[in-house]
Amino acid sequence: MSSPRTVIRGGLVVTASDEVHADVLIEDGRIAAVAASESSAARSWTDAQELDATGKYVIPGGVDGHTHMEMPFGGTFASDTFETGTRAAAWGGTTTIVDFSVQTVGQSLRAGLDAWHAKADGQCAIDYGFHMIVSDVTEPVLKEMDVLVEEGVTSFKQFMAYPGVFYSDDGKILRAMQRAAGNGGLIMMHAENGIAIDVLVQQALAAGKTDPRYHGEVRHALLEAEATHRAIQLARVAGAPLYVVHVSAEQAVAEIAQARDMDLPVFGETCPQYLFLSTDNLAEPDFEGAKYVCSTPLRPREHQAALWKALRTNDLQVVSTDHCPFCFAGQKEMGRGDFSKIPNGMPGVENRMDLLHQAVVEGHISRRRWIEIACAAPARMFGLYPRKGTLAPGADADVVIYDPHAEQVVSAQTHHMNVDYSAYEGKRLTGRVETVLSRGVTVIDRGTYTGHAGHGQYIPRGLTSYLA
Ligand code: URP
Ligand code: ZN
Ligand code: ZN
Repeated sequence: MSSPRTVIRGGLVVTASDEVHADVLIEDGRIAAVAASESSAARSWTDAQELDATGKYVIPGGVDGHTHMEMPFGGTFASDTFETGTRAAAWGGTTTIVDFSVQTVGQSLRAGLDAWHAKADGQCAIDYGFHMIVSDVTEPVLKEMDVLVEEGVTSFKQFMAYPGVFYSDDGKILRAMQRAAGNGGLIMMHAENGIAIDVLVQQALAAGKTDPRYHGEVRHALLEAEATHRAIQLARVAGAPLYVVHVSAEQAVAEIAQARDMDLPVFGETCPQYLFLSTDNLAEPDFEGAKYVCSTPLRPREHQAALWKALRTNDLQVVSTDHCPFCFAGQKEMGRGDFSKIPNGMPGVENRMDLLHQAVVEGHISRRRWIEIACAAPARMFGLYPRKGTLAPGADADVVIYDPHAEQVVSAQTHHMNVDYSAYEGKRLTGRVETVLSRGVTVIDRGTYTGHAGHGQYIPRGLTSYLA
């Protein structure tokens, strides 16, 4: 569908670097110009569909660099398809996701990537790219990494957890890092000592500790910190940059901060669940804690201050969702009587922009930092900037008109993710997405979904530009 010439008038345009009362001109799906409201330039923009943003923010569409649509895990699949998950993302003001294609052991990277293209092709409401989960480092797989980087799959996730499934030992990690050092790819690390965790899992179960809260206890914060430290040292040896995913423990944050103090190219993301939820949720009675089982796990509330601080000081650069939803009925319930059988993952792709705006309201971060960690930094980190993540001439017209004063109560009754609970049920938030444009096409229009499956395009990505 071709997009009309559009002007967004009268809003406060907020990017990672600026806040300015300005009008935004959109032509052919791209930002054509941004000019001060009431300026002669802005007044000259006639012959265009006009969107009124008076009293609202005009911000870049969110970039969620960590999602798992239809991800196979623990004998089931994440409950959002690319169709339902990207539609929900649009509702929440996110206009680009980078999802994880999966190489299963014994398979080529190409086979895994092809399978993910087949799931997503023609289904997405917003634009998307792929990372690649590397589960099996072999000589042919290392060569394939070079090819994938050339094609725009420029980041590779490895797991120090989940022995027998996604796990890579230190030798495999080092070899992939060496390859990434040569081809410009970015290694993304799930940093938990999975071998030690599995021992603690067996000991807990043998002692009759089967409830969801034990998931948090066996995945000890020190085992996240130890793995983070080890990953950093392996990356140093390989001469490769490192991006640590879903950081939740303050001791892991300290490892990343220490590396960055040494000017090492080490980066980290955290997720809303670690900023707003805690082990109190994992301990909810009647197996309700299973809703909050994810890895790394939720931590005691005391860890949150270190995460917020790191987001302010740029020791953590990105907030992604790690959206990996499983319904409570029939999926999370697979782990009744054995927490280790609860599929790991939580929903959140629809909530991230609003939760981070709430962090602005509560004074944890500034408005510009909100846009930095949710839009600009992930776009830079994953080779999408400046096409995505900002509002500048030439960028894709992925734009959100955001009402900072609207009140909402988060609920599974009203969300659009294909999952039967909300991790934030009943939470009151100030601020709400009003209108969303994806490449100049309105996909959310003041509370109505106007997009369609197949509008979203696959975006081959460049190398990370965060280092620059
Ligand atoms: O619990 C989680 N995080 N599930 C998704 C897979 C992963 O490790 O990111
Ligand atoms: Zn992970
Ligand atoms: Zn994940």
